Amino acid sequence: MRTLLDRPDREAMAQRLLRASAQKSFDPEVDVDWEQPLVDGMFYMPEHRVSLYGTPLWERMSHAQRVDLSRHEIASTASVGIWFELILLQLLARHIYDRPATSDHVRYALVEVGDECRHSVMFSRMIEKLGCPTYGPGRLAHTLGRLLKSFATGPEVFAAFLIAEEILDAFQRELMIDESVQPLVRRISHIHVIEEARHLRYAHDELGRQMAAASPAARTWARWVVARSAWTVSSHLVHPDAYAAVGLDPRAARRMALANPARRESMRWASSKLVRFFAASDLLSGPGLLLWRRSGLIT
Ligand SMILES: [Fe+2]
Ligand SMILES: [Fe+2]
Repeated sequence: MRTLLDRPDREAMAQRLLRASAQKSFDPEVDVDWEQPLVDGMFYMPEHRVSLYGTPLWERMSHAQRVDLSRHEIASTASVGIWFELILLQLLARHIYDRPATSDHVRYALVEVGDECRHSVMFSRMIEKLGCPTYGPGRLAHTLGRLLKSFATGPEVFAAFLIAEEILDAFQRELMIDESVQPLVRRISHIHVIEEARHLRYAHDELGRQMAAASPAARTWARWVVARSAWTVSSHLVHPDAYAAVGLDPRAARRMALANPARRESMRWASSKLVRFFAASDLLSGPGLLLWRRSGLIT
């Protein structure tokens, strides 16, 4: 008997994504000029997206210190990106473990795993080129990520994909066309945006099916996991050590950044598409709403 999760349009979607991947994919080893010098005094992300932008602390910082903070913040975000991609590719491998290997749905998942592996190599090279450490999301988030990648099975799997991919995608789409930003970071963002557009279509499509097929209990659980993941991603993109690296008090700077109206507005802007989709998919209700509000992603 054919179930909702095996409808033929699922295969048609996977075939379109496979064709698009064959037409336009990148190898960051050759498609990024790793030898190009970094431009002195140039921001590494749009200035108005740096977490302390507009705060009293920002006003006291020199131009060099602001640029340096943008370098450490983009490296911190990239290291969180690697952490999330390691989670995603394990979730994808588990998603297809029991499915027929000759289906296009499985083939596309394997292509996506390959994309994420190349992205993580690309982010890793960028962090090294920028002379920054791999900050990561912090110990608690790292541990929660271990649970998510090992045990998640329901709609929360593709919802987690979307939280990481949609928010990063919004920032990178803006960054890649901003000529005030370092060319190396713009190129890397451009490559990521093109390949992630396919991942987003796959995840949107699959999440819709999973929610339609899930039991009421599974939906409730998914809403909670999704709220917790959104809070973690929204508040852990910048590691406190990134502030310390530019001579700021890490605790005070983090506190100021999390309360910064400009940063909260940036996060709301970056997650607006995601929030609309989750609301339409019945993922935004229940006790998790409190966490969504605390994260500042919804008001
Ligand atoms: Fe990626
Ligand atoms: Fe992705």
